[in-house]
Amino acid sequence: MRQLIAGNWKMNGLLAQLAELAQPLPAASANLAADVLICPPATLLTAAAAILAGSRVALGAQDCHEAQSGAHTGDLSASMLRDAGARFVILGHSERRADHGETDAIVRAKVEAATIASLVPIVCVGETEAQRLAAIQNDVVTSQLRGGLPDGYSGVIAYEPVWAIGTGRVPQDADIAAMHAHIRVVLIERLGSSGRDLRILYGGSVKPSNARAVLALPEVGGAMVGGASLNAADFMAIIHAAA
Ligand code: 13P
Repeated sequence: MRQLIAGNWKMNGLLAQLAELAQPLPAASANLAADVLICPPATLLTAAAAILAGSRVALGAQDCHEAQSGAHTGDLSASMLRDAGARFVILGHSERRADHGETDAIVRAKVEAATIASLVPIVCVGETEAQRLAAIQNDVVTSQLRGGLPDGYSGVIAYEPVWAIGTGRVPQDADIAAMHAHIRVVLIERLGSSGRDLRILYGGSVKPSNARAVLALPEVGGAMVGGASLNAADFMAIIHAAA
């Protein structure tokens, strides 16, 4: 399967940055062996969709509400994001779990809402540093997957160890490979043979300097890139590192 390189801009980016960061992507991605996705803030989706129209670069959002509409001031539904041009949505990112108390049950409800609205969910899982030091990372990720994925889940998984996000620290190659192999086993247990085909991305301090090595690991189906996706040259280098 083609690898997917996703840029998660988080709460960064004004209209002025869109030209610099998104405009070069359609040409740069035209002949790539990998799929490319950017997830700018929701305020930029419509303008980004216009820039990416007709190209192979996909557009995604960073969260959605679990309801399709209603009295939820300040929230955005999956169908609104789809309407604004998104085709993917990141769900259960550790920053949302930490900032907004999102539980696996909430993530699962959001996955269901995204699926109804024809958005492809990207469900994020990953352990904290304390959990890794206690050697319970596999149990933590198993429980996030069992709790967050509805029956018949069809989407993307992103393994993002919390301690590697924005820190410049990346797990050892063997640890990434071991966790991706573990996630694959849980997906097959949870979803049957369709669990074999889901892409499992790695996220956490992916940079041009480490992208090639990370993307070459077994069961790594792509990367979720935070900080480095806010620098056009760095993101370009990472998409070119994909197999
Ligand atoms: P960094 O690449 O900045 O570590 O962020 C990773 C991430 O959270 C992507 O979703």
